Amino acid sequence: MCGVVGLLLADGEEHCCAELVDGLTTLQHRGQDAAGIVTACTKSEWESVKFSLVRDLGLVRDVFARVPAAQSLRGNVGIGHVRYPTAGGGSAMNCQPLYVNFPCGLCLAHNGNLTNASELRSQLIEAHRHINTDSDSEVLLNVFAEHLGGALLKEEEQQQQSNNIEAAVFSAAEKTMKRCRGGYAAVMLIHNVGLLAFRDPWGIRPLVFGVRGGGDTAVASESVALDTLGFSLERDVAPGEVVLVRPELPIVTRVCHAISLTPCIFEYVYFSRPDSLMNGVSVYEAQLRMGEKLAGKIRRTFPNDHGIDVVIAVPDTSRPIALQCAYSLDTPYREGFIKNRYVGRTFIMPGNRTKGVRLKLNTIKTEFRGKAVLLVDDSIVRGTTSTELVQMAREAGARKVFFISASPEVRYPNVYGINISSSTELIAHNRTPDDVAAKLGADWVLFQDLPDLEDCVRSLNSTLSRFETSVFSGTYVTNDVRLLEDNNIITSPPTTTIS
Ligand SMILES: *[C@@H]1O[C@H](CO)[C@@H](O)[C@H](O)[C@H]1NC(C)=O
Ligand SMILES: *[C@@H]1O[C@H](CO)[C@@H](O)[C@H](O)[C@H]1NC(C)=O
Ligand SMILES: *[C@@H]1O[C@H](CO)[C@@H](O)[C@H](O)[C@H]1NC(C)=O
Ligand SMILES: *[C@@H]1O[C@H](CO)[C@@H](O)[C@H](O)[C@H]1NC(C)=O
Ligand SMILES: *[C@@H]1O[C@H](CO)[C@@H](O)[C@H](O)[C@H]1NC(C)=O
Repeated sequence: MCGVVGLLLADGEEHCCAELVDGLTTLQHRGQDAAGIVTACTKSEWESVKFSLVRDLGLVRDVFARVPAAQSLRGNVGIGHVRYPTAGGGSAMNCQPLYVNFPCGLCLAHNGNLTNASELRSQLIEAHRHINTDSDSEVLLNVFAEHLGGALLKEEEQQQQSNNIEAAVFSAAEKTMKRCRGGYAAVMLIHNVGLLAFRDPWGIRPLVFGVRGGGDTAVASESVALDTLGFSLERDVAPGEVVLVRPELPIVTRVCHAISLTPCIFEYVYFSRPDSLMNGVSVYEAQLRMGEKLAGKIRRTFPNDHGIDVVIAVPDTSRPIALQCAYSLDTPYREGFIKNRYVGRTFIMPGNRTKGVRLKLNTIKTEFRGKAVLLVDDSIVRGTTSTELVQMAREAGARKVFFISASPEVRYPNVYGINISSSTELIAHNRTPDDVAAKLGADWVLFQDLPDLEDCVRSLNSTLSRFETSVFSGTYVTNDVRLLEDNNIITSPPTTTIS
């Protein structure tokens, strides 16, 4: 999970850095581990243009407070990244954007994960490329560089170089997408060309673009970043689609290698901001529907009396879900946990998760005392946070503690950029909801049914027929991941060929 943003301002005298910082700040929830920006100028003599690159560990505001950003990052075109450490670990070396000097001068920022990165890495090394980090993003960048280099040489041989950079870029993107499996949403800065954005052939990771009066263009992981910067959302980048943005030219888009749209459903439950619009679906509205479906599940399970006195959300992501669940159950909704908004999410925070919860949340005792409370959360992954919450509810005097999760049981690893890598650490691995309740110390635990969760999103856009749901279903849309008996995974060549 990461966030990306790209900007090209029509006025070559302007600088885009401040807006990139603002855009990244809006996407900060997608990753708090590291941040980076690279900029360039499209107006200057192209031989003399230098990329300005700043990237480091930390929050956006920390990374860009340390440098006099506006001075060091010059130019009207740029890309930025916030990182949630996926492949490659948490070192400063793996911070993005990444750079290679040939061909043209290329920078890349990427959200997602390649499932065949290790095979691709070997092929690149055989072709005498040096891969300097453990990051799959560097692999993606070098695969693209290899194909762009090849395409430019070919154009040159045919003596069409001057007018056919566009053909070379699209050809390179197509070849890259055919070789790279997995989920990826990438933005690139190509020297003397402009901005390039593309999304994997399954559209697993999100990417949108928008425009602003005067010819400015922006690309971002979520539409909230466009809102903040005053861009109007044009649309989502389609699966396998490439968006090429150049100064003084219209935006060119081409679907180079699409397979089928299977957006990650976790984006709607947990990752994206509720004010984002993804595939035409308001994340907030989808979450309200999740609350309704949860109420339905409770009514089905306890047709006579559910015995809930009060519904309490686990802040912040599950608030709309809990609110609507309470409304549908005709039971009061109350704020029971107050969040310290200056502490990051524990899912993402390294170190002691248990202690993290108490740092982050405290109870309003009167809302728990003597009551049967229903705690609503977006998901139960490892169960550490949930166990702590149940305990805190009891300490605050709850008579009974029930727990409901807006997503189904998380049972399988994710390979598309969400750090859920081993099944055995998942609390629902080989456990029934009753076993999970016993583990958490709750009176009962319920999970959303997967078809219900899919319906919440699909009912807002009926063209979304399939979702990436591997952590719940163990089905991997890229067809190259096999589940082992212990529910861990291995990657292998695809069982069906794609071309
Ligand atoms: C992924 O999560 C596990 C805990 O489940 C943690 O040990 C590991 O450090 C995380 N990896 C990264 C790169 O954040
Ligand atoms: C992934 O990488 C391996 C090794 O390069 C390759 O055999 C495979 O075809 C690649 N791509 C796809 C689409 O599977
Ligand atoms: C539904 O999603 C598809 C795919 O992203 C998109 O093309 C379409 O515009 C969306 N529909 C609406 C009503 O937004
Ligand atoms: C984490 O914090 C809890 C509560 O403060 C403590 O009981 C536990 O031992 C700590 N775990 C580690 C690994 O430090
Ligand atoms: C990335 O893909 C590799 C290969 O399938 C997998 O081992 C790894 O766990 C994945 N990482 C993430 C964060 O998705």
